[in-house]
Amino acid sequence: MDNKFLWGASTSGFQVEGGYQEGGKGLGTTDVRKVSEGIADTKVASDHFHHYQEDILLMKELGLSTYRFSFCWSRIMPDGWHVNTEGLDFYEAIIDLCISYNIEPIPTLYHFEMPQALVDTINGWQSRECIEAFEKYARICFNRFKGKVKYWITINEQLIVTAASDLNGNHEPDKNLQMKKMYQMSYHLSLAEKKAMSALKEIDPSCKIGVASAVQNVYPKTSNPLDILASMDAEELMMYMLLDMSVYGKYSPRVEGLLKSSGYYPIKEEGDMAILNSSKPDFIGINYYSSLCVQHNKERIINHALPPFFRSCEYQVVENTKIEKTEWMALGIDPLGLRTAIYKVHNRYHLPMLITENGMAYSDELYNGKVHDPYRIDYLSKHIKETLLAKKEGYPIFGYCPWSFIDLVSSHQGFKKRYGLVYVDRTDTDIKECKRYKKDSFYWYQNVIATNGKDLL
Ligand code: BG6
Repeated sequence: MDNKFLWGASTSGFQVEGGYQEGGKGLGTTDVRKVSEGIADTKVASDHFHHYQEDILLMKELGLSTYRFSFCWSRIMPDGWHVNTEGLDFYEAIIDLCISYNIEPIPTLYHFEMPQALVDTINGWQSRECIEAFEKYARICFNRFKGKVKYWITINEQLIVTAASDLNGNHEPDKNLQMKKMYQMSYHLSLAEKKAMSALKEIDPSCKIGVASAVQNVYPKTSNPLDILASMDAEELMMYMLLDMSVYGKYSPRVEGLLKSSGYYPIKEEGDMAILNSSKPDFIGINYYSSLCVQHNKERIINHALPPFFRSCEYQVVENTKIEKTEWMALGIDPLGLRTAIYKVHNRYHLPMLITENGMAYSDELYNGKVHDPYRIDYLSKHIKETLLAKKEGYPIFGYCPWSFIDLVSSHQGFKKRYGLVYVDRTDTDIKECKRYKKDSFYWYQNVIATNGKDLL
């Protein structure tokens, strides 16, 4: 990694692009899932598909040195197997424009959406064929953008990708079987990720590749040893299980034991070990919004508020009364939790880290062409401060990307829940013209970048 700290911002394809079935795009899982009445779907989103030049010009004005975004897998591989060159052309235009403004493009191959055709024809990640489809897609991207893209991200939040049925088509009605399938799918994703990492090293060896983890920093409710174990298990099952596979190609003994005793241990094939040991990431992307608090689950209660990795009932999520909460930030706001998460990830993996997502949701309002969002400035400044403190202590963090560069459709809660530095003038039900307005946080972040964050420390 070079020494320059990357000041960036993030988005994801299906949440920002729109361009539904335009430019040869196939249907993605996020296009066909049901959204509740009155909530925006992804057909238009922020209409970045038609506004990308204007948006990247705004990134230049902001002073970004990196843009972390994602490809829609279904835009490049509409049926999962054959390439749509128009899709590649679209992303090449984004990449070229970024490079011309000295903005390092960091694409993610797989951010929640995948070709619905793969779900319909082979049952998606339930089948090992999907590993092949992903590798093929990754190779096409690596070959096409060789020499232009220097940093890649494989999968965004494997935890959510495998847990959210409407993103992956695991609609098995028997909940126990659904869980079993979920762990099998997760295992297939780990194999696919390794194949993609190895492919990149073969195609463009000087490139760096990382994973973006939904980092879980889990606190015990009390000092009761059972609560301590519960918090450790929550981190094992929701974070380390996936990162251990990405980095070390295996589960920890604790995860092995929990999966075997619950009957969820995935079926493996001969030759898998070689694939799992074939490559490892160059860096870890940290997606962090808040910490979590749990207690020992003595009544073996199933908590439906989180990804179902906890159905083994090892822990129960409880409120953390020590941190402030808001309507959209229901788990609370915990800037110090980001720094302690950085420590935890470093202690286990000793790899460079990039903050790939961190942001504050709010139902911002536009008044006379302006959006005053002091709450977001407060949230971001506290989290950047903790990031820079860790960096100053010597932790290898090479960049920070708030979520999100621009307002976009929330992963499952529509357009009222906004995270952007740039406001998009539309509502859940009225698309209008999607006009862009710079929020106060845009100007604030512009100054943070220009001064390299020095006023925040
Ligand atoms: C992250 C995802 O988990 O959280 C993003 O990578 C998502 O895609 C973000 O938008 C915020 O979550 P939500 O549900 O508020 O959109």
